[in-house]
Amino acid sequence: MPRLILGIESSCDETAAAVVDERGRVLADVVASQIAVHAPFGGVVPELAARAHLENVVPVIERALSKIDGGLDAIDAIAVTRGPGLNGALLVGLQAAKAMAWAKGLPLVGVDHLEAHLHAIFLRRDEADEARAVPPFPYVALLASGGHTAIYEVRSPLDKALLGQTRDDAAGEAFDKSGKLLGLGYPGGPRIDALAAKGDASKVPLPRPLMNNKSLEFSFSGLKTAVARYVETEGRPTTEAAMADLCAALQSAIVDSLATKSVLACKQREVPRLVLGGGVAANRGLRARCAQLCAKSGVQLYVPPIASCTDNGAMIAWAGFAQLDAGRIADATLSPYSRSPDVVRGKVRKQRPAPAPR
Ligand code: KG4
Ligand code: ZN
Repeated sequence: MPRLILGIESSCDETAAAVVDERGRVLADVVASQIAVHAPFGGVVPELAARAHLENVVPVIERALSKIDGGLDAIDAIAVTRGPGLNGALLVGLQAAKAMAWAKGLPLVGVDHLEAHLHAIFLRRDEADEARAVPPFPYVALLASGGHTAIYEVRSPLDKALLGQTRDDAAGEAFDKSGKLLGLGYPGGPRIDALAAKGDASKVPLPRPLMNNKSLEFSFSGLKTAVARYVETEGRPTTEAAMADLCAALQSAIVDSLATKSVLACKQREVPRLVLGGGVAANRGLRARCAQLCAKSGVQLYVPPIASCTDNGAMIAWAGFAQLDAGRIADATLSPYSRSPDVVRGKVRKQRPAPAPR
Protein backbone atom coordinates (compact mmCIF):
# COMPACT_ATOMS: atom_id res chain seq x y z
CA MET A 1 0.00 0.00 0.00
CA PRO A 2 1.45 3.44 -0.91
CA ARG A 3 1.85 5.78 2.03
CA LEU A 4 -0.78 8.51 2.48
CA ILE A 5 -0.33 12.06 3.78
CA LEU A 6 -3.11 14.34 4.96
CA GLY A 7 -2.26 17.92 3.92
CA ILE A 8 -3.77 20.94 5.67
CA GLU A 9 -3.61 24.50 4.29
CA SER A 10 -4.86 27.70 5.96
CA SER A 11 -2.34 30.42 5.04
CA CYS A 12 -4.71 32.92 3.47
CA ASP A 13 -8.37 32.75 2.47
CA GLU A 14 -8.83 29.08 1.66
CA THR A 15 -9.28 26.35 4.24
CA ALA A 16 -8.12 23.19 2.50
CA ALA A 17 -7.43 19.54 3.30
CA ALA A 18 -6.40 16.73 0.97
CA VAL A 19 -5.08 13.19 0.97
CA VAL A 20 -2.25 12.36 -1.45
CA ASP A 21 -0.29 9.14 -1.92
CA GLU A 22 3.46 8.91 -2.39
CA ARG A 23 3.07 8.73 -6.18
CA GLY A 24 1.31 12.11 -6.15
CA ARG A 25 -2.19 10.72 -6.71
CA VAL A 26 -4.81 12.98 -5.15
CA LEU A 27 -7.34 10.76 -3.34
CA ALA A 28 -9.30 13.58 -1.72
CA ASP A 29 -9.15 17.35 -2.07
CA VAL A 30 -11.51 19.71 -0.27
CA VAL A 31 -11.29 23.52 -0.42
CA ALA A 32 -13.56 25.93 1.47
CA SER A 33 -13.17 29.36 -0.09
CA GLN A 34 -13.71 32.55 1.93
CA ILE A 35 -14.31 34.77 -1.09
CA ALA A 36 -17.83 35.65 0.13
CA VAL A 37 -16.42 36.70 3.53
CA HIS A 38 -13.81 39.09 2.10
CA ALA A 39 -15.54 40.31 -1.08
CA PRO A 40 -17.37 43.21 0.65
CA PHE A 41 -13.96 44.56 1.75
CA GLY A 42 -12.23 44.18 -1.62
CA GLY A 43 -9.39 42.14 -0.09
CA VAL A 44 -8.56 39.59 2.60
CA VAL A 45 -9.25 40.79 6.17
CA PRO A 46 -6.83 38.82 8.40
CA GLU A 47 -9.05 38.71 11.50
CA LEU A 48 -12.05 37.47 9.51
CA ALA A 49 -9.86 34.92 7.71
CA ALA A 50 -8.69 33.41 11.01
CA ARG A 51 -12.26 33.17 12.30
CA ALA A 52 -13.52 31.56 9.09
CA HIS A 53 -10.65 29.02 9.20
CA LEU A 54 -11.67 28.16 12.76
CA GLU A 55 -15.22 27.44 11.62
CA ASN A 56 -14.16 25.50 8.52
CA VAL A 57 -11.08 23.55 9.50
CA VAL A 58 -12.71 20.54 11.20
CA PRO A 59 -15.53 20.04 8.63
CA VAL A 60 -13.04 20.38 5.75
CA ILE A 61 -10.65 17.80 7.24
CA GLU A 62 -13.55 15.46 8.04
CA ARG A 63 -14.86 15.73 4.49
CA ALA A 64 -11.43 14.95 3.02
CA LEU A 65 -10.95 11.93 5.30
CA SER A 66 -14.45 10.63 4.55
CA LYS A 67 -13.41 10.18 0.90
CA ILE A 68 -10.76 7.54 1.59
CA ASP A 69 -11.11 3.99 2.86
CA GLY A 70 -10.23 3.81 6.54
CA GLY A 71 -10.40 7.59 7.11
CA LEU A 72 -7.83 8.89 9.58
CA ASP A 73 -6.69 5.33 10.40
CA ALA A 74 -5.34 5.01 6.83
CA ILE A 75 -3.15 8.14 7.13
CA ASP A 76 0.62 7.72 7.60
CA ALA A 77 1.59 11.36 8.31
CA ILE A 78 0.18 14.88 8.50
CA ALA A 79 1.62 17.87 6.62
CA VAL A 80 0.62 21.44 7.41
CA THR A 81 1.47 24.87 5.98
CA ARG A 82 3.83 26.82 8.28
CA GLY A 83 4.07 29.93 6.16
CA PRO A 84 4.37 32.36 4.59
CA GLY A 85 0.88 33.64 5.25
CA LEU A 86 -1.34 35.38 7.78
CA ASN A 87 -0.26 34.43 11.29
CA GLY A 88 -3.74 34.04 12.76
CA ALA A 89 -4.84 32.00 9.76
CA LEU A 90 -1.77 29.74 9.85
CA LEU A 91 -2.21 29.06 13.57
CA VAL A 92 -5.61 27.48 12.98
CA GLY A 93 -4.27 24.87 10.54
CA LEU A 94 -1.17 24.26 12.67
CA GLN A 95 -3.13 23.67 15.86
CA ALA A 96 -5.57 21.33 14.11
CA ALA A 97 -2.67 19.36 12.59
CA LYS A 98 -0.82 19.14 15.90
CA ALA A 99 -3.91 17.96 17.78
CA MET A 100 -4.60 15.20 15.26
CA ALA A 101 -0.97 14.12 14.98
CA TRP A 102 -0.46 13.87 18.75
CA ALA A 103 -3.83 12.16 19.34
CA LYS A 104 -3.11 9.50 16.69
CA GLY A 105 0.65 9.23 17.22
CA LEU A 106 1.32 10.29 13.61
CA PRO A 107 4.43 12.10 12.35
CA LEU A 108 3.83 15.79 11.64
CA VAL A 109 5.77 17.85 9.08
CA GLY A 110 5.70 21.61 8.44
CA VAL A 111 5.58 22.73 4.81
CA ASP A 112 6.54 26.01 3.14
CA HIS A 113 3.57 27.25 1.11
CA LEU A 114 5.74 28.61 -1.73
CA GLU A 115 7.71 25.39 -1.99
CA ALA A 116 4.41 23.50 -2.23
CA HIS A 117 3.32 25.69 -5.19
CA LEU A 118 6.66 25.01 -6.92
CA HIS A 119 6.09 21.22 -6.83
CA ALA A 120 2.32 21.12 -7.50
CA ILE A 121 3.06 20.10 -11.10
CA PHE A 122 3.68 16.53 -9.82
CA LEU A 123 0.12 16.06 -8.50
CA ARG A 124 -2.02 13.53 -10.34
CA ARG A 125 -5.68 14.36 -10.06
CA ASP A 126 -7.17 12.45 -12.98
CA GLU A 127 -6.39 10.65 -16.24
CA ALA A 128 -5.39 13.89 -17.95
CA ASP A 129 -2.85 14.48 -15.19
CA GLU A 130 -1.58 10.89 -15.49
CA ALA A 131 -0.95 11.48 -19.19
CA ARG A 132 0.74 14.86 -18.65
CA ALA A 133 4.54 14.89 -18.75
CA VAL A 134 6.29 16.03 -15.57
CA PRO A 135 9.63 17.84 -15.67
CA PRO A 136 12.94 16.34 -14.64
CA PHE A 137 15.03 18.40 -12.18
CA PRO A 138 16.26 21.08 -12.48
CA TYR A 139 13.51 23.32 -13.82
CA VAL A 140 12.73 27.02 -13.70
CA ALA A 141 9.46 27.82 -11.95
CA LEU A 142 7.38 30.98 -12.06
CA LEU A 143 5.37 31.36 -8.88
CA ALA A 144 2.70 34.02 -9.31
CA SER A 145 0.00 34.33 -6.69
CA GLY A 146 -1.90 36.92 -4.65
CA GLY A 147 0.94 37.34 -2.18
CA HIS A 148 4.09 36.39 -4.12
CA THR A 149 5.68 36.69 -7.52
CA ALA A 150 9.09 35.11 -7.97
CA ILE A 151 11.19 32.97 -10.28
CA TYR A 152 13.09 29.98 -8.88
CA GLU A 153 15.43 27.33 -10.11
CA VAL A 154 14.09 24.14 -8.57
CA ARG A 155 16.88 21.60 -8.29
CA SER A 156 15.33 18.81 -6.26
CA PRO A 157 12.35 18.32 -3.92
CA LEU A 158 14.25 20.15 -1.16
CA ASP A 159 16.62 22.43 -3.06
CA LYS A 160 15.62 25.66 -4.79
CA ALA A 161 17.30 28.98 -5.55
CA LEU A 162 15.50 32.31 -5.83
CA LEU A 163 16.42 33.96 -9.14
CA GLY A 164 14.23 37.06 -9.00
CA GLN A 165 11.08 38.44 -7.45
CA THR A 166 8.81 41.45 -7.40
CA ARG A 167 10.08 44.70 -5.94
CA ASP A 168 6.61 45.75 -4.85
CA ASP A 169 3.18 44.23 -5.57
CA ALA A 170 2.61 40.59 -6.47
CA ALA A 171 1.04 39.86 -9.87
CA GLY A 172 -2.20 38.69 -8.24
CA GLU A 173 -2.25 41.87 -6.18
CA ALA A 174 -1.95 43.91 -9.40
CA PHE A 175 -4.94 42.04 -10.83
CA ASP A 176 -6.97 42.34 -7.63
CA LYS A 177 -6.20 45.98 -6.80
CA SER A 178 -6.85 47.07 -10.40
CA GLY A 179 -10.05 45.01 -10.39
CA LYS A 180 -11.15 46.88 -7.26
CA LEU A 181 -10.39 50.26 -8.93
CA LEU A 182 -12.49 49.16 -11.90
CA GLY A 183 -15.37 48.02 -9.68
CA LEU A 184 -15.03 44.40 -10.78
CA GLY A 185 -15.35 42.83 -7.30
CA TYR A 186 -12.95 40.54 -5.44
CA PRO A 187 -10.85 38.74 -6.53
CA GLY A 188 -10.26 40.72 -9.72
CA GLY A 189 -7.95 38.17 -11.40
CA PRO A 190 -10.49 35.68 -12.78
CA ARG A 191 -12.90 38.48 -13.79
CA ILE A 192 -10.17 40.42 -15.65
CA ASP A 193 -9.09 37.15 -17.32
CA ALA A 194 -12.64 36.61 -18.65
CA LEU A 195 -13.08 40.23 -19.83
CA ALA A 196 -9.59 40.40 -21.37
CA ALA A 197 -10.50 37.52 -23.71
CA LYS A 198 -13.03 39.84 -25.38
CA GLY A 199 -10.87 42.99 -25.50
CA ASP A 200 -8.18 44.63 -27.60
CA ALA A 201 -5.02 45.31 -25.58
CA SER A 202 -3.66 47.85 -28.07
CA LYS A 203 -6.49 50.31 -27.33
CA VAL A 204 -5.02 51.40 -23.96
CA PRO A 205 -1.28 52.03 -23.60
CA LEU A 206 0.01 50.91 -20.18
CA PRO A 207 3.60 50.82 -18.87
CA ARG A 208 5.70 47.66 -18.85
CA PRO A 209 8.14 48.27 -15.98
CA LEU A 210 11.63 46.71 -15.89
CA MET A 211 11.09 45.11 -19.30
CA ASN A 212 14.17 46.55 -20.94
CA ASN A 213 16.78 45.12 -18.63
CA LYS A 214 18.13 41.63 -18.12
CA SER A 215 17.15 41.45 -14.46
CA LEU A 216 14.65 38.87 -13.31
CA GLU A 217 12.87 41.32 -11.03
CA PHE A 218 9.29 42.47 -11.48
CA SER A 219 7.47 45.65 -10.57
CA PHE A 220 3.69 45.94 -10.72
CA SER A 221 2.80 48.87 -8.48
CA GLY A 222 3.23 51.40 -11.34
CA LEU A 223 0.68 49.50 -13.36
CA LYS A 224 -1.89 49.81 -10.61
CA THR A 225 -1.15 53.56 -10.44
CA ALA A 226 -1.53 53.83 -14.24
CA VAL A 227 -4.96 52.19 -13.99
CA ALA A 228 -5.88 54.60 -11.16
CA ARG A 229 -4.77 57.59 -13.32
CA TYR A 230 -6.74 56.25 -16.28
CA VAL A 231 -9.88 55.99 -14.13
CA GLU A 232 -9.27 59.51 -12.73
CA THR A 233 -8.97 61.09 -16.16
CA GLU A 234 -11.25 58.93 -18.32
CA GLY A 235 -13.59 57.58 -15.65
CA ARG A 236 -14.43 53.89 -15.29
CA PRO A 237 -15.29 52.35 -18.66
CA THR A 238 -19.06 52.43 -19.09
CA THR A 239 -19.46 49.85 -21.84
CA GLU A 240 -18.47 46.20 -21.66
CA ALA A 241 -16.33 46.63 -24.78
CA ALA A 242 -14.32 49.51 -23.24
CA MET A 243 -13.91 47.58 -19.98
CA ALA A 244 -12.74 44.55 -21.96
CA ASP A 245 -10.13 46.66 -23.77
CA LEU A 246 -8.76 48.07 -20.51
CA CYS A 247 -8.68 44.59 -18.93
CA ALA A 248 -6.92 43.19 -22.00
CA ALA A 249 -4.27 45.95 -21.80
CA LEU A 250 -3.76 45.40 -18.07
CA GLN A 251 -3.54 41.63 -18.40
CA SER A 252 -1.21 41.87 -21.36
CA ALA A 253 1.18 44.16 -19.42
CA ILE A 254 1.28 41.79 -16.40
CA VAL A 255 1.51 38.63 -18.48
CA ASP A 256 4.17 39.98 -20.82
CA SER A 257 6.43 40.77 -17.92
CA LEU A 258 5.86 37.38 -16.23
CA ALA A 259 6.35 35.32 -19.39
CA THR A 260 9.32 37.27 -20.78
CA LYS A 261 11.31 37.12 -17.54
CA SER A 262 10.52 33.46 -16.95
CA VAL A 263 11.82 32.50 -20.38
CA LEU A 264 14.82 34.80 -19.85
CA ALA A 265 15.55 32.89 -16.62
CA CYS A 266 15.49 29.59 -18.55
CA LYS A 267 18.04 31.02 -20.99
CA GLN A 268 20.27 32.53 -18.30
CA ARG A 269 20.32 29.30 -16.30
CA GLU A 270 20.48 27.13 -19.42
CA VAL A 271 17.54 25.15 -18.10
CA PRO A 272 15.04 24.67 -20.96
CA ARG A 273 12.08 23.77 -18.73
CA LEU A 274 9.50 26.18 -17.30
CA VAL A 275 6.86 25.24 -14.72
CA LEU A 276 4.00 27.57 -13.76
CA GLY A 277 2.49 27.72 -10.28
CA GLY A 278 0.28 29.88 -8.03
CA GLY A 279 -3.21 31.29 -8.56
CA VAL A 280 -2.19 33.62 -11.40
CA ALA A 281 -0.99 30.57 -13.36
CA ALA A 282 -4.72 29.94 -13.91
CA ASN A 283 -4.72 33.00 -16.20
CA ARG A 284 -5.41 32.07 -19.82
CA GLY A 285 -3.41 34.99 -21.16
CA LEU A 286 -0.35 33.95 -19.14
CA ARG A 287 -0.62 30.34 -20.30
CA ALA A 288 -0.91 31.43 -23.93
CA ARG A 289 1.95 33.95 -23.77
CA CYS A 290 4.25 31.44 -22.02
CA ALA A 291 3.38 28.79 -24.62
CA GLN A 292 4.21 31.26 -27.40
CA LEU A 293 7.56 32.41 -25.95
CA CYS A 294 8.61 28.92 -24.87
CA ALA A 295 7.94 27.51 -28.36
CA LYS A 296 10.06 30.30 -29.84
CA SER A 297 12.93 29.66 -27.41
CA GLY A 298 12.95 25.87 -27.35
CA VAL A 299 11.74 25.76 -23.74
CA GLN A 300 9.38 22.96 -22.62
CA LEU A 301 6.40 24.40 -20.72
CA TYR A 302 4.66 22.50 -17.91
CA VAL A 303 1.33 23.88 -16.66
CA PRO A 304 -0.66 22.25 -13.84
CA PRO A 305 -4.48 22.14 -13.94
CA ILE A 306 -6.18 25.11 -12.27
CA ALA A 307 -7.07 23.15 -9.12
CA SER A 308 -3.33 22.59 -8.58
CA CYS A 309 -2.45 26.27 -9.24
CA THR A 310 -4.73 27.95 -6.70
CA ASP A 311 -4.29 27.23 -2.99
CA ASN A 312 -5.07 23.63 -2.08
CA GLY A 313 -4.19 20.97 0.49
CA ALA A 314 -2.91 18.45 -2.06
CA MET A 315 0.22 20.47 -2.83
CA ILE A 316 0.93 20.69 0.92
CA ALA A 317 0.57 16.91 1.30
CA TRP A 318 2.85 16.29 -1.69
CA ALA A 319 5.56 18.66 -0.41
CA GLY A 320 5.15 16.90 2.94
CA PHE A 321 6.55 13.65 1.52
CA ALA A 322 9.91 15.33 0.84
CA GLN A 323 10.02 16.64 4.42
CA LEU A 324 8.99 13.28 5.83
CA ASP A 325 11.59 11.36 3.80
CA ALA A 326 14.27 13.84 4.91
CA GLY A 327 13.34 13.05 8.53
CA ARG A 328 12.22 16.59 9.28
CA ILE A 329 9.58 15.57 11.78
CA ALA A 330 8.12 18.47 13.75
CA ASP A 331 7.67 18.61 17.50
CA ALA A 332 5.25 20.61 19.63
CA THR A 333 7.19 23.83 19.00
CA LEU A 334 6.29 23.91 15.29
CA SER A 335 5.28 27.54 14.72
CA PRO A 336 4.11 29.72 11.82
CA TYR A 337 6.10 32.33 9.91
CA SER A 338 4.49 35.18 8.03
CA ARG A 339 7.32 35.79 5.53
CA SER A 340 9.36 33.35 3.52
CA PRO A 341 12.97 33.28 4.75
CA ASP A 342 14.37 33.88 1.23
CA VAL A 343 11.85 36.34 -0.16
CA VAL A 344 12.19 39.93 0.97
CA ARG A 345 10.26 42.83 -0.48
CA GLY A 346 12.32 45.39 -2.33
CA LYS A 347 15.29 43.24 -3.22
CA VAL A 348 16.31 39.68 -3.85
CA ARG A 349 18.22 38.22 -0.95
CA LYS A 350 21.47 36.81 -2.30
CA GLN A 351 21.83 33.06 -2.03
CA ARG A 352 24.64 32.47 0.43
CA PRO A 353 27.38 30.10 -0.73
CA ALA A 354 27.75 26.94 1.35
CA PRO A 355 30.09 27.53 4.32
CA ALA A 356 33.64 26.28 3.86
CA PRO A 357 34.33 22.99 5.67
CA ARG A 358 36.34 23.42 8.88
O1 KG4 B 1 -2.20 30.99 -5.11
P1 KG4 B 1 -3.46 31.68 -4.73
O2 KG4 B 1 -4.73 30.88 -4.78
O3 KG4 B 1 -3.36 32.28 -3.29
C1 KG4 B 1 -2.20 32.90 -2.82
O4 KG4 B 1 -1.31 32.15 -2.34
O5 KG4 B 1 -2.16 34.14 -2.93
O6 KG4 B 1 -3.58 32.97 -5.68
C2 KG4 B 1 -4.65 33.85 -5.59
C3 KG4 B 1 -4.47 34.93 -6.65
C4 KG4 B 1 -5.46 36.08 -6.56
O7 KG4 B 1 -4.77 37.30 -6.64
C5 KG4 B 1 -6.35 35.88 -7.79
O8 KG4 B 1 -6.88 37.07 -8.34
C6 KG4 B 1 -5.36 35.25 -8.74
O9 KG4 B 1 -4.61 34.36 -7.96
N1 KG4 B 1 -6.04 34.52 -9.83
C7 KG4 B 1 -5.99 34.92 -11.11
C8 KG4 B 1 -6.79 34.01 -11.84
N2 KG4 B 1 -7.29 33.07 -10.97
C9 KG4 B 1 -6.81 33.41 -9.74
N3 KG4 B 1 -5.36 35.95 -11.69
C10 KG4 B 1 -5.50 36.10 -13.03
N4 KG4 B 1 -6.25 35.28 -13.79
C11 KG4 B 1 -6.91 34.23 -13.25
N5 KG4 B 1 -7.63 33.41 -14.02
ZN1 ZN C 1 -0.71 30.26 -2.65
